[in-house]
Amino acid sequence: MLDQLTIQQIEQGSLQEALTLVADLFPGEVAFSSSLGQEDQVLTDVIFKNDINIRIFTIDTGRLFNETYELLDRTVARYKKPIAVFFPPAAETETWVAANGINGFYESVDLRKGCCHVRKVLPLNRALQGAKVWVTGLRADQSDNRKDMPVIEWMPEKQLYKFNPLIRWTYEEMITYINDNNVPYNRLHDKGFVSIGCAPCTRAIEPGEEPRAGRWWWEASHKECGLHVTAR
Ligand code: ADX
Ligand code: SF4
Repeated sequence: MLDQLTIQQIEQGSLQEALTLVADLFPGEVAFSSSLGQEDQVLTDVIFKNDINIRIFTIDTGRLFNETYELLDRTVARYKKPIAVFFPPAAETETWVAANGINGFYESVDLRKGCCHVRKVLPLNRALQGAKVWVTGLRADQSDNRKDMPVIEWMPEKQLYKFNPLIRWTYEEMITYINDNNVPYNRLHDKGFVSIGCAPCTRAIEPGEEPRAGRWWWEASHKECGLHVTAR
């Protein structure tokens, strides 16, 4: 387990220092899940540019925007480094669709969470096999559920550390980094989209709306897919 001093070093270091420190502490055992969102693109830029020993993967739910696939291509071409793509399990996905319909997630929150479970959580668990640290692009001001999340914490249920190096970054800091470093980003951000997930479950937001208002917009739920649920 990490001691308090090391945790403090991770919390207080710059983004590059913190990522490098964690990669050195767990060589070959650090995996970063990128949705290709703006936060994730910042982390990808730092990891790839500095050759930090962290593998990067993305989950293709099968329902993403074409703009997201196009960004994946542009990102791999820009850095000339691989991003592994994980897919949902075929049998479970086919069973879910046969039982609930291809767009059955609109019918209820439970069905929506079931679709997210099959298309995101199952491939995530597979992608994290062998990892001791899971890096995410979560930021505290994205939602209430995320506001108290620590930089790094042990997750007993997954038996690994969850490391959120951008958790205390503001939206403005992230945008400044992207502009200053010419980081590739999803063209949908220029059309009013902020948080981007699957195409049928994401819409653009109006000025003044919550950043995650465009996710599962038809629901009054907590707007989480099961990847980042906390007991808090
Ligand atoms: S979600 O839970 O609502 O889907 P969000 O889109 O805010 O999550 O992204 C938060 C973090 O979850 C990302 O920074 C990334 O680490 C992870 N994540 C979400 N979707 C994916 C995906 N399709 N592939 C890989 N990681 C993802
Ligand atoms: Fe299914 Fe929508 Fe969840 Fe994507 S976001 S996995 S389409 S319910």
